[in-house]
This record gives sequence, structure tokens and C-alpha cells, in this order.
Amino acid sequence: MKIFTSILIALLFLPLGHKEPVAEKVSETKPDPILIEKKVDSLLSIMTLEEKIGQMNQYNGFWNVTGPAPQGGDAAKKYDHLRKGYVGSMLNVRGVEQVRAVQKIAVEETRLGIPLIIGFDVIHGYKTMSPIPLAESASWDMEAIESAAQVAAREAAASGINWTFAPMVDISRDARWGRVMEGGGEDPYLGAKIAAARVKGFQGDNLSSEKTIAACAKHFAGYGFAEGGRDYNTADFGTSTLYNTVFPPFIAAKEAGVRTFMNSFNELNGIPATGDKFLQRDILKGKWEFDGFVISDWGSIREMIAHGYAKDGKHAAELAVLAGSDMDMESYLYVAELAQLVRDKKVDETVIDDAVRRILRVKFELGLFDDPYKYCDLEREKSEINSKENHDAVLDVAKKSIVLLKNEGNLLPLDKSGKKIALIGSLAADKNSPLGSWRIAADDNTAVSVLEGMQAYSGNELNYAKGADIAKGPTSFITEIEINEDDKSGFPEAVAAAKAADIVVMVLGELGFMSGEGRSRTTIDFPGVQQELLEEIHRANPNIVLVVNNGRPLDLSWADENIPAIVEAWHLGSQSGHAIAQVLYGDYNPSGKLPMSFPRSLGQVPLYYNYKNTGRPVIPAPNLVFWSHYTDEQNSALYPFGHGLSYTSFAYNKLSVDNAYAQNGTVNVSVEVSNTGKVEGKEVVQLYIRDLYASVTRPVKELKGFELVTLAPGETKKISFPLTHKELGFYDNHGNWLVEPGEFHVFVGGSSSTQYHKTFELK
Ligand code: NOJ
Repeated sequence: MKIFTSILIALLFLPLGHKEPVAEKVSETKPDPILIEKKVDSLLSIMTLEEKIGQMNQYNGFWNVTGPAPQGGDAAKKYDHLRKGYVGSMLNVRGVEQVRAVQKIAVEETRLGIPLIIGFDVIHGYKTMSPIPLAESASWDMEAIESAAQVAAREAAASGINWTFAPMVDISRDARWGRVMEGGGEDPYLGAKIAAARVKGFQGDNLSSEKTIAACAKHFAGYGFAEGGRDYNTADFGTSTLYNTVFPPFIAAKEAGVRTFMNSFNELNGIPATGDKFLQRDILKGKWEFDGFVISDWGSIREMIAHGYAKDGKHAAELAVLAGSDMDMESYLYVAELAQLVRDKKVDETVIDDAVRRILRVKFELGLFDDPYKYCDLEREKSEINSKENHDAVLDVAKKSIVLLKNEGNLLPLDKSGKKIALIGSLAADKNSPLGSWRIAADDNTAVSVLEGMQAYSGNELNYAKGADIAKGPTSFITEIEINEDDKSGFPEAVAAAKAADIVVMVLGELGFMSGEGRSRTTIDFPGVQQELLEEIHRANPNIVLVVNNGRPLDLSWADENIPAIVEAWHLGSQSGHAIAQVLYGDYNPSGKLPMSFPRSLGQVPLYYNYKNTGRPVIPAPNLVFWSHYTDEQNSALYPFGHGLSYTSFAYNKLSVDNAYAQNGTVNVSVEVSNTGKVEGKEVVQLYIRDLYASVTRPVKELKGFELVTLAPGETKKISFPLTHKELGFYDNHGNWLVEPGEFHVFVGGSSSTQYHKTFELK
């Protein structure tokens, strides 16, 4: 067998060389970084230019690897490249058998036997799905978020994958953008905490463990600011936003040890991110000293031609590699053009070496050279995927992700017996939508529906009526969805069920594939005839609990005015129905808080709590219009960032500020939080600051601390937040961190709308 022959000659000291494609227990010992650098250098020294460029080339899965390889076309060419060692990575190859088949070619049939790194979009779960990332973010619970990422990593790793294209850490303020479902919401502070938690969850503290996978912070940078919320559109925002809003979650991911970054489709300041040297070389690899590698987004190197930035494919490859894009996802341009660009002296070979060094480093860190088949154990695949432990973990985070938006007259929680309940809406019986949008490996229709979840509480009479379909036919990840705008044939049955019921639970919102990539919308209401259904049911029986399933903030203004109880339940993953039922019946007291503001109308979008005051803030005066407002709507959100109710109530008292900044660099803020209701509950205690005047204007509020606190009825706890230069400063327009003297407000409370504050002065 030809495995590793050449490498073995050059790297005698290396522990290389499984000769058979069998997985063995690999060591959980962390590889020595100095030794890794030596190994990378030795390997690099024996690689041809073509082999180096091969490492920078990633292909999508291109044939049924266990079946016959196609004879012609693109796939055959890719297959040939794989054999020659011109492929460093593949994506969308999954499952032990499939991964082993491609890895075997890379390891046993190429000259150097360098293993592939296998990437996949493990965004919120692999087969056992956790809530969509926006939902998980509503938990504000970093342990739960980390543990959901661990589940995803374990399942993916057991299925041959060793690299996820997650977390997406793009801050976004625009509910029209379908990819808000994939991120941490609108706030850079919360977004940074979540980014770090997810990186830690995926990677653990040892990348070479067979239970962890490399993470990827994406999309660098500015993708969440696509104009008009239209996916892939130009992003246009200022330097202050770049440093203070867009960068912080990326910095947090880097500091948490993320091993890869993905650049983005958008242009910023006239330069496509993929070709942006400032972003990738000056900031990421320069200032932040990132030593992992950067992958392009899908085809984004070639897309620089359409952007009007590159003349042709060759030019695009040159621009991308010089800017710092190390690996080409699906543009096929590095493999086609880079060697000639080096020979033409347009690209120095040291640039190639730097990219390959980064890629090999991560492969060594993953332990792929010790055992390229370490993620290929059929037994482990069987026992890990869909294990009870994994489902328990995603149920836990699903419950914590639910946000109680409104609960007039304490309609919730529901009594567990003696009631007639009508359950209405096609989403209530939907076993697919809760799986969300990024769920390529998940098996269709495997989520627990709300109907199934509620059936577990058998003390009530439960009567399900669909009401109406949302789409006219099946939906998929890649195709446009045809919305049902006219079929109301199910309305009479639903109305009859509502009339006969004590309480109506309605499940309305978006199908799983209505948010995500390529799913921008110009309206954020309930799609199709759902609003009509809601109003008709309301006429029949107003005693309604509205459960909303969605991947973005929706306009819930009518519901807020008319419906007594509203539960934001997103797309919650495999255990969705159980999580929702447990909240509706009070077995879990809701504790989620919104990670994005919910607008009163689409016209307010982009809407975010940490806006600037402007020179004409709202000082309402009769008949005067010359202030920053709308003539037909309030400025504020319907449900602001950080909002979320509980079945109990909380009071905040004794806010105190101990300003010792001049002595020890700390301002200590403390507050007493009490449970003033009748049941135990969990509150996310939030702290915001306002820097009243600065050399670059600061937002009216900025989240700078939060803590989850569980309180028994009548219990009070004192919560303290030390504020240091890290919380009190900001970036100027050159990326310098400044802490300026002057007056600050510090606010505490259970939402960003809190007005409970004190003032202090930094000297
Ligand atoms: C395009 C998406 O923008 C990116 O986030 C994803 O990882 C790649 N496709 C691969 O599927």
C-alpha cells in the first residue's frame, strides 16, 4: 500500500500512518503546537506547487462515492483532481461510508497522502436539531448554547465531519434578511458572548478529540448589513459601525480559539469582502494575529467578476489570494489559475506557502495525520446520532429559547386537566418546520410537533384543526415557496373547534424554509391567509394563546392589541413540541429574552435598541413635526431587545454604583432583584450603559453585562457587575480603543426598555 510513503521519508519523526481504513481510539492528548509547526514546515518543503495549491482547493461532494464514479463532466474532473492531490477539502460529503471513501483516495492514492478536511454546515445540529441560532440566542444561556454546539459537534464528528461552517456571527438589524435566523441577533455584546460559547461548544478545548470539530466564524464581514435586507446585496455602513458593531463577535470567536474564518458575499466600500485585503490581511491576520485559515464563501472568488472588481477568473484568483483568502470554496479558480499566477510572478510563492501552512496547521491540530479515519467509525455513528442524551440536551435549550411576549390576565400557564382546548394552525402538526432551515442532514418530519407535545398532557380534551396551509405544496431548502393566498377551505372546521373550546392555542408563523439563505422578505407579517384565520378565530373565541413559529422578528402588532397571550417559539428543533407544551403547561417557566427587537411595522426596519440619539431626539410637542420620528408610528419597538416575561414577576431595587475607577479601574454596579410572584422563576438581569458624550457619539444604550438568576417566590438576590475599561470604552474610527472621561448612565432591568438608572462620572 502506497500510504504516506513520501511523507514518511521526509518526516521520520512523525507519528503518521494508519495503513488500514479502520478507526481506532485516538488519543485525547492535545498535540504540541511547536511540533505541529515543525511538521507543517517539513511537509511544505516536499510539496510541489500544484500540491500546495491543491490544499487550497475545496470541492463540493460530487458523486455517490459508494457507487460508480461518473465518467464525464465536472465530477470526473474533480475526481481526477482528488487522485492527483489537488483537493485539500470537501464539503457536503457526510456519513462514515462516504467520508471514508473520499478520505481513502486522498490518503492512499495521492503522492503525499495528505488527509482531507471535511466541512459541512452544522449550523444548529446535525441530525438531532437544536433551535435555530436566533432562538438559542434568546436563551441568553451560554452553557445551554455551548452544550447544543457540543451535541452538534459530536454527531457531526461521528458521521465523518471535522469542520463546521459555524457559528455565523453576523450582527443584523433587519428582519427582512432571512439569515437573521442563523445569528445571535442585533447586539454586539450578546453576539460576542454567543460566538465564544458556540466556538467552545464545537471545538472544546482539544481539537484533536474525536468528539470535536473545527469551527468557522462567518461571514467576514458586514454580511448582516445587506441593504434592504436583500440577501447577497451590498453592505454600506461606516467605520464606527464596523469596529463597534460588526467586529466584536468576530474578535470574541478569535479569542475563543476559532480555527477558521469564512469571508462574505457582500462588498463594503466598493470592495468585495473576498478580495478585501484590509479585512483579511490587515485586521484579521495582522492586528488580530489569527493563525488559522480563511475560506471563501461558495463561489465568492468567481463572483468578484460579477461584482465588477475582477476582470476574469485569473484576476479574481489573484485578488482573492493576495487579499488573504486561503481556500477556494467552489470557484475552481485557485486550482485552475494560481500556478500560472505564481509562474507569471503575479503571486509570490510565499503567499501560497502562508495559506497552505495555515490549512495544514489546522489539519494537524485535528489529528488527521495521526489517524485520517478517526471520524469514520460506523459503530460510533450509530450510537451517537439521535442518542437520548443528545435529544435531552436540545430539549433543554429549546425550552430556554422560548420567549413569553404577552400574558394578559395570566391566561398561561394552562390548566392540565378539565379544559377543552382547540389547537389550530397547520404549523401545530408540522413535524418538518421546527427543524429550521439549515438542516441538510436532518431527516424530514422528525421533529416533535406541538400537537404531539400537547398530547402528552392528556388531562384536557384536545381538538386539532388545521385552518389553512401556509404553502401550496412541499417546500425545500433550495426552491422558492409558493404561498397559499386563497385556500380557506379549512376555516369553518377551525372556527367550529374554536367555538366549542374553552381555550384556543393557535400556532402561526413561517415554515422552516421561509427563513435562511436566500429567504429575504418585503413583509414581515404572517404569510398567506394566516392573519385572516387569526382574526376569524378571534371573532369565534378570543381566549387565544398565540404560539409563533418563525425565523425572524415578525410584525405582531394586531396580535399584541387583540390576543391575550403570545409565545415566541421560533423553530425549536427536534424536540420543539415537547418544549412548547412544557412551557404552555407551566412545567417550564419561560425565561427567554428577545435577541432582536420586534418592530411595530416593517417601516421601522432596520430597528435596534442601541440607536444613536441624533440631534433631534423625540421630545413630543403638539403640532410640531421637526424631530426624528414617523408621523404615523412610534419610534419604539413593539417588543424591545431583551424583553421576555415569566409566570412570576421580578422587582429591581437598591441600584448602587461604587465608582472606584480612578483607584482600581473598576466601577462596581450592584442591584437587588426579587421574585415578587408566586412561582420560582429565572430572570436575565441586564445592564446597559450610556456614555453621554464622547469623541465618537455613543448609542442611547449599550448592553454591557447580564446574568441569569433563579429566584424562589419572595427571594431576593444581589447581583454585581464590575465595569472595567472593557465595558466602558469604544473604538474610534481608526480602530483604537478609547475610554474617555465624562458622565455615564448605568441602567439595569429585565429589558432594554428599562429606565431604572444611576449616573456616575469617569475622571
Ligand atoms: C453559502 C453560505 O453563505 C455559507 O454560509 C455556507 O457555509 C456555504 N454556502 C456552504 O454551504
